[in-house]
Amino acid sequence: MTGKYRTAYCGDLTSDDVGKKVKLAGWVHNIRDKGKIAFIDLRDREGLVQLIMFPKKNPELKASLKNCSLESCISVEGVVQKRKSPNPNLKTGEIEVVVEKIEILSKAERLPFLLEDPNVSDELRLKYRYLDLRRPENFWRLKVRHQITKVIRDYLSSIGFIEVETPLLAKSTPEGARDYLVPSRIFPGKFYALPQSPQLFKQLLMVGGIEKYFQIARCLRDEDLRADRQPEFTQIDLEMSFVTQEEILAVTEGMIKEVFKHVLGKEIKIPLERRTYADIMENYGSDKADLRYDLKIHTYNANNSNQKSIRYFYIKKKDLENGQSNRPFEERLKRFIDEVKSVQWQCSVTLVQKSHETKNNYILYQTNESATIKETLPTLLENLAEDELVVVASGEHNIATETLGEIRSFAGRLLELAPPDSYYLYWVVDFPLLEYSETEGKWVAKHHPFTMPHHDDLELLESAPEKVRAYAYDLVLNGFELGGGSIRIHDAEIQKRVFKALELSETEAQEKFGFLLEAFKYGPPPHGGIALGLDRLVMILTNAESIRDVIAFPKNKKAQLLVVGAPSEVSQEQLEELKIQIKK
Ligand code: AMO
Repeated sequence: MTGKYRTAYCGDLTSDDVGKKVKLAGWVHNIRDKGKIAFIDLRDREGLVQLIMFPKKNPELKASLKNCSLESCISVEGVVQKRKSPNPNLKTGEIEVVVEKIEILSKAERLPFLLEDPNVSDELRLKYRYLDLRRPENFWRLKVRHQITKVIRDYLSSIGFIEVETPLLAKSTPEGARDYLVPSRIFPGKFYALPQSPQLFKQLLMVGGIEKYFQIARCLRDEDLRADRQPEFTQIDLEMSFVTQEEILAVTEGMIKEVFKHVLGKEIKIPLERRTYADIMENYGSDKADLRYDLKIHTYNANNSNQKSIRYFYIKKKDLENGQSNRPFEERLKRFIDEVKSVQWQCSVTLVQKSHETKNNYILYQTNESATIKETLPTLLENLAEDELVVVASGEHNIATETLGEIRSFAGRLLELAPPDSYYLYWVVDFPLLEYSETEGKWVAKHHPFTMPHHDDLELLESAPEKVRAYAYDLVLNGFELGGGSIRIHDAEIQKRVFKALELSETEAQEKFGFLLEAFKYGPPPHGGIALGLDRLVMILTNAESIRDVIAFPKNKKAQLLVVGAPSEVSQEQLEELKIQIKK
């Protein structure tokens, strides 16, 4: 590498370079000026190297050093030498560069925060995200994100997929979140909707004969944010024609296998495990249960006389040992109990720790109405050893199960039950086609209204809609929903019946998806697809705590982009052009 500013990256220098003259460029990570001798840690995206200089002997160097504030951007020339006292914690710790010349490319003012200070608020980091990005960890995350995207592009291209872009200024898609709207200047009072996903376009591409489509697609959803949700995120979006569910799962498995192999150097076994929705819900209380730890939910007695189910799971010594956590158990247990206490559960919940000393054992948590549970405790505790735990819930069967599903996931996270660097991927299949919405007072689509009902269940569509399974599937990784998709309806008759089950009138269907229904008049092929959350995948593979950490410029919890100050007011002229008046 030879350039005006550098001949090597700081982080790439090794003892093989001893004696070489080099030019380096980067940021001043640290300075120690002791008069006769001075040190700078110079950092570029590949790492750090120590610079050593003797300012007393070199007045020019002395002058430059004066201007060298922290995080200033500089270029230096010097010779690599072996270090007298190597630093084993640094990749370049065996060597240093004796600097003869410093050029200050741009001087940094006093920083709003020190890059590695652990006490800096997230808000400040997000406002100065470009400074935060200088941290090696952040560069590494973006690099892994790039690698993952590249592996996916290469893999899908190699099996005949082509990447096609779809519009951003479009119409509402049926993903169920709130839309971001963009006003039209040419048609005042009309709005584009930014896509919640490319769903309808990828189906139109199938009608258009593209057969194998993919896109690394930006999606926008105005919904409440969480650690695994951003208003603007990226999907690895696929659609295929003339395929069955199994073929789509196989393509996705091949893709994930390549990602694990090239990015983590790990071989995963495919085909992945398949669990039915009914099975995962009943045994783990969640359709994205983390199976890196066991904690299976059992039944004490289902639906007894008062229509209540008593369900429970154990946390045993082997579960705790499996997690290999370094934190003391008491500390983890306290965090777990605090989190359980912070939620208002919809059914009665009791959390007990077995003890030989106390007759009642240790009741760590109990909701008011836990009377039914109390009677079961002696039997449930029989199977436990000292200090082991049982969590019991009693209530309507599904509510008790889902409550335990949530507590189970708190336990996994806070008691640190998952072994480090472990990955558990599986499919959830046979989702129900419909779910009853109490708020809307009718059946709504569990996935979306174009999802194909299971052919064995078609005749139940009118008589027992709750029993109809769909050709819909989710991919789960370490307790996160990584992706989901379905086989779509390409048959007008079945589509009509599904709309009817959804109580969607012909006029409403026309209004919402008329363009798709029109396209489906002209020979749509059988098709289906899937979308994986790229941000979630990168978050899990880089061990990040939030998807914010793997997005270059993420939004904060209030969906603000602090680095540029968006959303912001616009000028009166802009509003007038759009014929928009702001209500005070
Ligand atoms: P779905 O809505 O399940 O399906 O989304 C697919 C995947 O996208 C990711 N995801 C998100 N990631 C970050 N922030 C968000 N707000 C967010 N919302 C979703 C998740 C999720 O599993 N069109 C269908 C796919 C299809 O049927 O082919 C769809 O969008 O990882």
